[in-house]
Amino acid sequence: MPDFDSSVPHIARVYDYWLGGKDNFAADRALGEKTLAAYPNLVFSVRANRAFLARAVRFLAAEVGIRQFLDIGTGIPTANNTHEVAQRVAPQSRIVYVDNDPIVLSHARALLTSKPEGICAYLDADLRDPDKILAAAAETLDFRAPVAVMLVAVLHFIGDDAQASAIVGRLMEACAPGSFIAISHAASDIDAVQQTEMVRQLNESVAEKATLRDRAAVARLFDGFELLEPGVVKTAQWRPDSDLQAASPAAVWCGVARKA
Ligand SMILES: C[S@@+](CC[C@H](N)C(=O)[O-])C[C@H]1O[C@@H](n2cnc3c(N)ncnc32)[C@H](O)[C@@H]1O
Repeated sequence: MPDFDSSVPHIARVYDYWLGGKDNFAADRALGEKTLAAYPNLVFSVRANRAFLARAVRFLAAEVGIRQFLDIGTGIPTANNTHEVAQRVAPQSRIVYVDNDPIVLSHARALLTSKPEGICAYLDADLRDPDKILAAAAETLDFRAPVAVMLVAVLHFIGDDAQASAIVGRLMEACAPGSFIAISHAASDIDAVQQTEMVRQLNESVAEKATLRDRAAVARLFDGFELLEPGVVKTAQWRPDSDLQAASPAAVWCGVARKA
């Protein structure tokens, strides 16, 4: 059995609750409700984040031709997991999922449903140890060919700016030219009062403390890479499929950039 205490709320399960999933316990639901009371648009914001992940993977697979994805901070499986979106475009896509949460590990089987032409792997590892991630991912991914590194709603768990940038730098250093980095990150400068109160409540209860960053700080995480249009924007506004999607509340910045 995985080693976790269901009476203590956990970010992966609270996120699952916000998304409308069923892989959560009473303590997660209670904190989920408390944080939603602090920031009622949160439910739209997390769904807009999840939709950004799917659009970014679809864009990278369909329009850029990326066939390898390293998805760090995967979360509990839900709709449109990275391999499902990528392999709908190109069944031969190779995906490595990484999370440090035993709960996500316990659900990993649902992430390993690769099409036969491709491959999916799961690593139980911490973003703070990029060398370990890169070494293990190299068993599945060919780092001499382009890779898309997905850091979606995970870098806000790295509180120190220099450490967050160093992690992005180390991961991308290992990737071939023509690789991509996709980042989304909870914002300190969108709906600032409600968002700050929501995170204060979250941090009171969960082990992984979140740090909000403003747009300029999120943009700095892309330093050294070619940021694609439309730059660093709210998740709902990154290449939206419809005006309705673009109009969703979203207190999360995001962007996609290319390594030259
Ligand atoms: C908010 S969820 C995001 C899930 C997914 N990427 C998405 O955007 O829908 C954050 C995930 O990051 C994971 N996580 C947090 N800190 C991490 C770390 N240091 N290393 C690896 N995973 C981490 C959590 O366990 C959780 O599953």
